[in-house]
Amino acid sequence: TRSSDADDLPHATKKRMADHLRKYESLFTLTPQRMRMIVEAFKDSLETGLAKAGQVVPMIPTYVFGWPSGEETGNFLAVDLGGTNLRVCLVTLEGEGKFEITQSKYRLTEEQKQEEGQVLFDFCAECLKTFVDSQIESGVIRKDCLLPLGFTFSYPCLQDRIDHGELIRWTKGFGASNTEGHDVVAMFRKSLEKNKVPAEIVALTCDTTGTLIASHYVNPRTRIACIFGTGCNAAYMERAGDIPKISHLGIDGNAEMAINCEWGAFDSFEHENLPRTKYDQIIDETSNKPGEQAFEKLISGRYLGEILRLIICELIDEGVLFLGQNTYKLEIPYSFDTAFLSLMESDPTDELLMIIGIFTHFFAVETTLAERQFFRALAKLVGKRAARLSACGIAAIVSKMGYLDEGCAVGADGSLYNKYPGFAERIHEGLQDIFGEKGKNIVTYHAEDGSGIGAAIIAGSSQSTHLSCRE
Ligand code: GLC
Repeated sequence: TRSSDADDLPHATKKRMADHLRKYESLFTLTPQRMRMIVEAFKDSLETGLAKAGQVVPMIPTYVFGWPSGEETGNFLAVDLGGTNLRVCLVTLEGEGKFEITQSKYRLTEEQKQEEGQVLFDFCAECLKTFVDSQIESGVIRKDCLLPLGFTFSYPCLQDRIDHGELIRWTKGFGASNTEGHDVVAMFRKSLEKNKVPAEIVALTCDTTGTLIASHYVNPRTRIACIFGTGCNAAYMERAGDIPKISHLGIDGNAEMAINCEWGAFDSFEHENLPRTKYDQIIDETSNKPGEQAFEKLISGRYLGEILRLIICELIDEGVLFLGQNTYKLEIPYSFDTAFLSLMESDPTDELLMIIGIFTHFFAVETTLAERQFFRALAKLVGKRAARLSACGIAAIVSKMGYLDEGCAVGADGSLYNKYPGFAERIHEGLQDIFGEKGKNIVTYHAEDGSGIGAAIIAGSSQSTHLSCRE
């Protein structure tokens, strides 16, 4: 067995670890100056996306007009096809910002993400059918009632009205065939009919737009919503007059419309602005969408564990780590979950026992204390870079909209934001590095359930008749 005491390591080995760490520090650290440069380029991309169709950051008009009144009432189904789970919900909006929610969750398999698109929507419809039947059976909702449905489909869709959306491209590792370029509402409708689900899709929305609306419903200081989960994206409310690419629609310039930025695409293809390391390049090149979602690939939960794994593998190849041990489990792509980074950063023990657990239990390798400290430091670098880049995105919207002096709240959701230790604090620190003291005016907080409540509110405000289907 190997010693777990760093002091037992030869001095040369310890020095070597320190040298390596310095190398990674310089690769992953973002200076305030670099951040400000990224913010400027980001702002330009946001503007370009609003000006013209088909840009790298698509800045999608959502046809969600203005903030919720709080007066939306009724029963709604919400279906949320996310990056990891499918969730079906029954939401009752009671007015004055009050609601009730019942839900079921299903984990999506990697195979489901790649199969025929219609089959994927059939699965969504089957799950919804089971859920609705159980609600009818337990007497919560009435039989023979057609329920309005808000569909949260968190992938970039081109919309020309609220109940229509053509998938521009899959993100987050999805690759279901015959879906890109198709109207996903029509596809889902077909599956609902096939399964005789008593639901009518009245709104298609993205998790960020839902989060924006749901968060404002309970916190009217909210101006921006972000998701930091399997994917990474933001939405905010824009003046219609400042969206040149829809000027031909003749919408009153002072009307407001939510914009789904799809900012995960920032710096795609050209890769001119973001500090990509060779690990980021490997992730990109081996992904099912090389060149795309450049910003998201540096930030979101789908990729952070993989970044760390690639660094570890490089050091294994160089003979620095795990000499003489069988490391095949570490060599499996995407075997290093981003949740491990959270655990590594939050390990409270001196011996870093949780990190021992991760490496022995999941990867069958033994670690020394010095190695564990090194891994923790690496996790910190990767996690911190993700949070500081996130701050750049928020800063770009804040600066574009002129929210800095007045300040604003940013509703944020997703596994990284909710579970990664210190993620929010690091975003706030980043905002101060960008804006100085005034950065304190921008505060992120844990958002309301956008894909459930938000989708229901959007469905509620986009249909005029509210059916009362609860028993
Ligand atoms: C990806 C999707 C986007 C979504 C985000 C967070 O970036 O393209 O629509 O909002 O993930 O789930």
